[in-house]
Amino acid sequence: MQTAQQSQGTLPPKRPRETTRIQDVIDDIYEKYRNIDDGAVATYIPELGKANPQDFGICLATVDGHVFRAGDWDKEFTIQSMCKPLAFQMALEQYGVAETLKHVGVEPSGDAFNSIELDPRTTRPFNPMINAGAIAIASLIKSTPVEAGVQAFVDRISEAAGRGLRIDGNVMRSETLTGDRNRAIAYLMRNFGIIDEHVNEALHQYFAQCSLLVTCQDMAVIAATLANMGLNPLTGKQVFEFQYIKYVLTVMLTCGLYDYAGGWAYEVGLPAKSGVGGGIFGVVNRQLGISVYSPKLDAQGNSVRGILACKELAAHFGLHAFEFTNVGSSFMQWLL
Ligand code: DON
Repeated sequence: MQTAQQSQGTLPPKRPRETTRIQDVIDDIYEKYRNIDDGAVATYIPELGKANPQDFGICLATVDGHVFRAGDWDKEFTIQSMCKPLAFQMALEQYGVAETLKHVGVEPSGDAFNSIELDPRTTRPFNPMINAGAIAIASLIKSTPVEAGVQAFVDRISEAAGRGLRIDGNVMRSETLTGDRNRAIAYLMRNFGIIDEHVNEALHQYFAQCSLLVTCQDMAVIAATLANMGLNPLTGKQVFEFQYIKYVLTVMLTCGLYDYAGGWAYEVGLPAKSGVGGGIFGVVNRQLGISVYSPKLDAQGNSVRGILACKELAAHFGLHAFEFTNVGSSFMQWLL
């Protein structure tokens, strides 16, 4: 059997520890994948179909405040399902673990994001990353009037991003008009007593959350805030209660990429979440946040270039949670 020492020839090489080299790697990955044209922009929400299929941005933000960017890192797009772990964090903070888990499980479903199913043993949604679970969470964090719950979400995610964010009204309207599948899921949950009778308010909260406009850099900074025990490394503000973040990262790792979650955990090895707007963000615990944006999606609803770029970033920098590099599993050593 080969020891870790003997197998070091196949491991990521030691690199010079300058930030310019990190930027070079990110620029190379951007160039390598910018012309990949596979996949299709989501059109089931008509407004999403207006995205420019050529858009491609990459951003890395470290817990000590370095930010590395390439391509369309500052282009706004809707957060879509990347809102789900952030809303889950807010529910855990507001209700605690036990109460929140009365409404949603933490088991991977292995099914598509919009599957119409509940765990037959508990009647809860399988996890907070699929639509059913996210709508159950939206029902918990909604408020009266509904605008107050939406504003609380926008305010908190703005703090995590380090700038004021806003909702795309056109996407929100488009999503509301075409959201019958989510309505069906919500009423199914109402039938089982998983959500309260204010079904439309829960859906309003969920559609609004999905319609938040973010950039690739915003998502990298939000990820870095999670990596940094809830403290935004650029603003120095404590945004999230750190004792719940481990639960959020766990469901991101096991359920964040839906029916590609196992393959993702195996190949990339990071807690992450994708959205049908074309974003993916991932967390390297205690080290950095990564984000990629490109709107053409694969059959599972994940960004094609986003997955390729994340795989390469993880492989190159040794980001996989269970990576053994010759210097230990650490990105920060590149910056020392
Ligand atoms: O519920 C929906 O259909 C969307 N607003 C969010 C779905 C989504 O982003 C799925 N992720 N890949």
